[in-house]
Amino acid sequence: MERAGGRGVCVAHAPDGKTILVAGAAPGDIATIKVLRKKKKHLEAVIERLEHPSPHRVQPTCAYAEDCGGCSWQHVDYGHQAEFKDVEVRENLRRIGQVEGGDFRPIVPAPKAYRYRNKLEFSFSASRWLSWKEIASGEEIAQKQALGFHVPGLWDKIMDIETCHLQPEPSNAIKNFIRDYAFTNGLSFFHPREKHGLLRTMMLRCTQAGDWMLVIQFYEAPEEAGLGLMQAVCDAFPEIKSAYYAHNPKPNDSIYDLDLQLFKGEPYVVEHMPSAVEGGRALSFRIGPKSFYQTNPEQAHRLYAEALKLANVGPEDTVYDLYTGTGTIALFMAQVAKKVVGIESVPEAIAAAKENARENGITNAHFEVGDMRHAFQAELWERYGKPNVLVTDPPRDGMHPKVVERLLELEIPRVVYVSCNSATQARDLALLQEKYAVTVVQPVDMFPQTHHVENIALLELKA
Ligand SMILES: C[S@@+](CC[C@H](N)C(=O)[O-])C[C@H]1O[C@@H](n2cnc3c(N)ncnc32)[C@H](O)[C@@H]1O
Repeated sequence: MERAGGRGVCVAHAPDGKTILVAGAAPGDIATIKVLRKKKKHLEAVIERLEHPSPHRVQPTCAYAEDCGGCSWQHVDYGHQAEFKDVEVRENLRRIGQVEGGDFRPIVPAPKAYRYRNKLEFSFSASRWLSWKEIASGEEIAQKQALGFHVPGLWDKIMDIETCHLQPEPSNAIKNFIRDYAFTNGLSFFHPREKHGLLRTMMLRCTQAGDWMLVIQFYEAPEEAGLGLMQAVCDAFPEIKSAYYAHNPKPNDSIYDLDLQLFKGEPYVVEHMPSAVEGGRALSFRIGPKSFYQTNPEQAHRLYAEALKLANVGPEDTVYDLYTGTGTIALFMAQVAKKVVGIESVPEAIAAAKENARENGITNAHFEVGDMRHAFQAELWERYGKPNVLVTDPPRDGMHPKVVERLLELEIPRVVYVSCNSATQARDLALLQEKYAVTVVQPVDMFPQTHHVENIALLELKA
């Protein structure tokens, strides 16, 4: 394998020069591969026999690393994982974004390689997916039900997971308690094709202080059996400070349009983040079951601190925070700015942002609900003034072309673009360079073991 490519695959070349993308490989591996798919521009393959392993390889911590697909770099040492992501960001920005020059700073690695996630979602299935190893073992598999993760690319197949190493304990203990209770008490698991069964999904969320939130979705009405499970798990784990359930007979698992019932405790858990100001008061954020909050909270603080440093925000600045979510970046920056305006399409997130501002005694942050394409308009700057610093943190698809257009019209002195997808970020930067120069690029690794990476780009208005 010649090098790491995007999305956790390695790049190799066939004798005829065709590019081959190999999953489960490490740069430096010498292997016999099996081509699974032939695409127009490349071939997709997996390793059939590893002849000579790369020196970067390590034994994966997780028993499901090969099959799960969530942690595509777990077989490589963390130092090299971070290096691959750094290279991927640079290449995307240079190739797609045509970013030339600029200060490309080395990636900020994550201090914790495991147990860093504050949120995991699991699915129940009445028809457990079996790995090739399990099938090849020839052993009779007595338990046909599963509680775990979706097999990549297969919507109806769930892999049973005993231990996931991405979230701290008691994450596995709670999940396994629920599965054991369901087996012992004969609670049925959801059948995704035949559409029946009681238990559908569960979500576990935690704070750095060790408070937990549990959300269970029932496909059939929970009645006594489902509520008995809720009571048993809450009794067994006093760390659960907020427990919800929902009856969800919809075709999809999304909780955003569901009426969630609070079963126990507070309607939210509270996360804390150090102040943006040396010695200042820490911020607190109420996180409900539907709120977006960065999944690696410790590293989120580093991301925001880097963004603030690059934005060089001072007491004279009016900062706009596009795609603000529950207002975390906006409130962090409000501690040093004159005024901050956060915009976001999810009304519940904006209600939480306003509540978070009140809780933290922040009076210079304003929040507006709206689709960015329509909400980011002159009416806003007539009300709040034009921004001289703008932070944008869009979803994976990047910004709508209309939003990019508006950024070009507005001619803002400093724009900080935070992204979880450097390919779409690069596409947007290519357009923005008509008026802005990309002066600093700072990748931050929030998601060790996976191929995901956050990247911050500082854009300064050209003279
Ligand atoms: C990557 S998250 C950023 C959240 C926030 N900056 C943070 O760090 O917690 C992207 C946010 O954009 C919001 N969003 C997605 N599409 C949007 C749109 N068209 N208009 C406004 N907000 C949108 C999502 O609801 C989500 O909260």
